[in-house]
Amino acid sequence: MSGERRIGEVVLEVRNISLRFGGVKALTDISFDVREHEVRAIIGPNGAGKSSMLNCINGVYAPQEGQIHFRGQAFSAMNSRQVAELGVARTFQNLALFKGMSVLDNIMSGRNLRMHTNLFQQALRNPWFGAAEREETEHREFVEKIIDFLEIQAWRKTPVGRLPYGLQKRVDLGRALAMEPQMLLLDEPMAGMNVEEKQDMSRFILDVNDEYGTTIILIEHDMGVVMDISDRVVVLDYGKKIGDGTPQEVRSSPEVISAYLGASH
Ligand SMILES: Nc1ncnc2c1ncn2[C@@H]1O[C@H](COP(=O)(O)OP(=O)(O)OP(=O)(O)O)[C@@H](O)[C@H]1O
Ligand SMILES: [Mg+2]
Repeated sequence: MSGERRIGEVVLEVRNISLRFGGVKALTDISFDVREHEVRAIIGPNGAGKSSMLNCINGVYAPQEGQIHFRGQAFSAMNSRQVAELGVARTFQNLALFKGMSVLDNIMSGRNLRMHTNLFQQALRNPWFGAAEREETEHREFVEKIIDFLEIQAWRKTPVGRLPYGLQKRVDLGRALAMEPQMLLLDEPMAGMNVEEKQDMSRFILDVNDEYGTTIILIEHDMGVVMDISDRVVVLDYGKKIGDGTPQEVRSSPEVISAYLGASH
């Protein structure tokens, strides 16, 4: 854990969310909150509903019941673009990168949301062209800063598909950071990584949290990582919330131990 935590007010409230796919109850009456600047983990066995929860938060799934409030705005009925515009970015459990494109261009794709002048205006070379060119330069500079921050300068021109998996996950984080999010949703950012790669990723997540002040929701299976970097943990099991508290609290809860920790540790 890095230094002193500066946890603030509640910024995200998940209220009584239920989500069904036909007969499958992916989430049942889930409520929890997330505070400003917090690293909030969501854990639980496979199929517990963790990714579905993130999909509700960023507007990919519309839950049948409940609401999500982000800084006072309810967004259960918003699409992911609108949620992104509110300042919520995410990475995906299965990487959503353009494998044939360079590291730089992939991260640049995260800037789309921030671009005001569009390609059509650029193509016309109309009076806005100068503005578009200037904007493009500013975006590239911002992306270069992210590349430095994530220590991936050596691969900036390399097609992402040629990088080892651990580095691809780092590029995916870079793409999300390019959106300058206030809140970052990370779906298993360390899955498939070796111990050293996990340590690197943990450090980057904490650095993002510290240096950019970004609030983070993190799905992670590795309990060691969860204990190390999260402030509070929500535990899901079969779509229900069975635990919520500090890592120490959830680790010692009998219900959590039997449902989740007991099974894999
Ligand atoms: N688009 C969908 N259509 C139908 N069922 C879905 C859909 N998305 C999720 N589910 C179901 O909802 C339940 C929760 O799935 P979810 O992916 O949220 O779990 P998870 O906790 O992220 O699991 P994992 O650890 O394996 O990633 C599962 O039974 C899953 O099959
Ligand atoms: Mg998942």
